[in-house]
Amino acid sequence: MRILVTGAAGFIGSHVVDRLLARGDLVIGMDNFDPFYSPAEKRSNLAGALANPRFTLLEADITDLAAMDRAFAGPRSDAVVHLAAKVGVRPSLADPVGYERVNVGGTRTVLDAAGRSGVRAFVFASSSSVYGNAARVPFREGDADPSPISPYAATKLAAEAACRDHQARVGGAMICLRFFTAYGPHQRPDLAIRKFVTLMRAGLPIPVFGDGGTERDYTWIEDIVDGVLKAVDRSVEGREEFEIINLGSGRPVRLDELVALLSRTLGVPLLVDRQPMQPGDVARTWADISKAQDLLRWAPQTKLESGIRQFTAKPLT
Ligand SMILES: NC(=O)c1ccc[n+]([C@@H]2O[C@H](COP(=O)([O-])OP(=O)(O)OC[C@H]3O[C@@H](n4cnc5c(N)ncnc54)[C@H](O)[C@@H]3O)[C@@H](O)[C@H]2O)c1
Repeated sequence: MRILVTGAAGFIGSHVVDRLLARGDLVIGMDNFDPFYSPAEKRSNLAGALANPRFTLLEADITDLAAMDRAFAGPRSDAVVHLAAKVGVRPSLADPVGYERVNVGGTRTVLDAAGRSGVRAFVFASSSSVYGNAARVPFREGDADPSPISPYAATKLAAEAACRDHQARVGGAMICLRFFTAYGPHQRPDLAIRKFVTLMRAGLPIPVFGDGGTERDYTWIEDIVDGVLKAVDRSVEGREEFEIINLGSGRPVRLDELVALLSRTLGVPLLVDRQPMQPGDVARTWADISKAQDLLRWAPQTKLESGIRQFTAKPLT
């Protein structure tokens, strides 16, 4: 197939690109190398892909409609995987307008250009953060009225709504995947596991926000990528559908358990710098993954202990 991937140079995008290429697909990767973290690191994420003749890199901004029309010109893509976004809950508090412009406006732009070019299969990267501090756990896709508590989360919910109205007007298959804290090689430097491992290896204390009782449903990157590829394959089967699907491990872990596991695995003492809970951070995430099991035949394969062992055995970037 011919697949267009936005946000291709990022953490999840670069893994998706590599796996699509490995199975023989033709991939057009798009990214603007946003400076949120090192563009050089993003380029190195794509080192393998750039050596593959079935890969084309387009440096473009998803908010630029003319650039998106150019990107979608030429042979029609069988599917789009839309991962490009301004990421991170905490930084979104300082720039809600910028997050809205890229995550909602940019998604609209990609949807419009894809629709005009006749693409009928679309997979969108949403987030567990849309559930906010929902009282009922595990979080289910059908739960009424998700209530985001950060600008980032609100933009992901608004982008899901844009995907929904696009599918209602244009048709085709639209799958919004709500990712639950992905971790693994190429992980973003702002995210907990990589940040903690870096500090622990340097003998520095790790900042722990709150009393250590917050919980996250950490999901191994290869499991996330399996889910993305299964969603792509479902989306090209010709159904007319709009689906929201959780991709998480289904096993929430407390922050104090996570840092203890990291310290044991690395064999270094645990030095903690306690800090107050941060605005925008939710108390816990916990995915109900029965819909992913039913619709995608997907189940996570990697337990946290094993993922952390694999992650810490290699250089972090
Ligand atoms: N990592 C996670 O745990 C997680 C959890 C939930 C949702 N998500 C979502 O998954 C997607 C990928 O996240 P990630 O962790 O790989 O982040 P990332 O920052 O590593 O990747 C995002 C990529 O998008 C690119 N980008 C940003 N703005 C752009 C623009 N205007 N035009 C073109 N490209 C642009 C960036 O340069 C980057 O390479 C994002 O949509 C994110 O919101 C990630």
